[in-house]
Amino acid sequence: MMTISNVTETDFDSIPIDPFWNTGDEKELKMHKIHTYPAKFPAFIASKAFDYAKENSIEVNTVADVFCGCGTVAFEAKRSGIDFWGCDINPVATMIAKTKSHKYQVSRLQRYFDDIIDTYKTSIIEYNSYDYANERLKYWYDESHYGHLLRLKAAIESCTPAKGQYRSFFICAFSNILKPTSRWLTKSIKPQVDPDKEPSDVLEAFENQCSFMFAANEEIYSLNKTKTCIVKGNFLDNRIVKPEVDVIITSPPYVTSYEYADLHQLSSLWLGFAEDYRELRDGSIGSLHHVYDFDRELEYLNNVGAHIVTQLLTQYKSKAYSVAKYFLDMQQVAKNCHSMLSENGLAIFIIGNTEYKGVRIDNARHLAESLQNSGFNEILVTKRKISNKILTPYRDSKGRFTADGNGRKVYNEEFILVGKK
Ligand SMILES: C[S@@+](CC[C@H](N)C(=O)[O-])C[C@H]1O[C@@H](n2cnc3c(N)ncnc32)[C@H](O)[C@@H]1O
Repeated sequence: MMTISNVTETDFDSIPIDPFWNTGDEKELKMHKIHTYPAKFPAFIASKAFDYAKENSIEVNTVADVFCGCGTVAFEAKRSGIDFWGCDINPVATMIAKTKSHKYQVSRLQRYFDDIIDTYKTSIIEYNSYDYANERLKYWYDESHYGHLLRLKAAIESCTPAKGQYRSFFICAFSNILKPTSRWLTKSIKPQVDPDKEPSDVLEAFENQCSFMFAANEEIYSLNKTKTCIVKGNFLDNRIVKPEVDVIITSPPYVTSYEYADLHQLSSLWLGFAEDYRELRDGSIGSLHHVYDFDRELEYLNNVGAHIVTQLLTQYKSKAYSVAKYFLDMQQVAKNCHSMLSENGLAIFIIGNTEYKGVRIDNARHLAESLQNSGFNEILVTKRKISNKILTPYRDSKGRFTADGNGRKVYNEEFILVGKK
């Protein structure tokens, strides 16, 4: 790790890659893969970060992930006997994270599963349900798939105890088959219909999904009885009570990369998290949709932020506004993280850079300055390779990874930034 004394003079490009952070020492457990999540990081990052903290003489009793996503750190903390606090603004993320944080009784899972399948097979729905369906769901599903999903959801709700962890387990399984059974273009990070797609059969997809999740559950011998608290909410909302923790491990959202609310619209609509999925963009850091007074707030940008926003302003005004809002939010994130940490605590961020039409959006450098301004005593940095993107460093116009150099550049390395309190 290299100590950063002066953010503007540090050459981030020449920071060498530290192989310690590149690969894990064990195969990733199936539990980490029970539900797709676009910006999930590999589980070994969490365990490496625990090791790193211990090497730095930190006794890690409590850890937080302030953008906990699908609960990668939450689950690894549980496995390592560490109490966890996490929050995410996306209800789909916290639903997955909560589901992962339990060991389930095999016999109960099997019993509920059999009941669900029996109920599903014998149930009927009102003949005109599709006519009254949410318009957006009609856009993604034909009448037959919609009807089967409706029956399956009703079966899960009638066969499992309300609000219990077994209901969450099967709802999570249901949620993960929503894209394959729809017209959603597979593996795309932009929501778009694939006119040539044959959506998967609902029952078969659900059975396969449950069988994978059963295997994931059986792979875990036991889980520690540590405290796990996962909150659905905006980390920047002062009303959310944030506990004191020894370590924070997190990968913040990026600006202009994913519109999380849009990507999870199928789950959000089916599970009733929103009537209109666009409501969930509110407060999401990095979203292109925001309301704020740009001219008034501009003066609060730090040096790195102001420099990048000024470069964008001349040609890409609306993008400049979004990037400025993102930077301002991340400055507040740095402050909140500092105040959550115990004395000598560590905040570990996994963060990459992005680019917009040739202008580099230097997220890592901006965060380093934000940490410095928030009172962290020491800032350290190193780099890791992102292994699954090495051969496909570009995105095509549909948002899929491609090796074609005409696409949008995606960096195949990211930074590990550490702030020591
Ligand atoms: C890069 S992802 C984190 C992924 C996570 N490390 C994992 O393995 O699943 C960033 C997350 O930040 C969340 N997020 C965006 N704005 C937020 C906010 N204001 N408060 C809390 N979470 C937010 C997004 O919903 C997304 O899940």
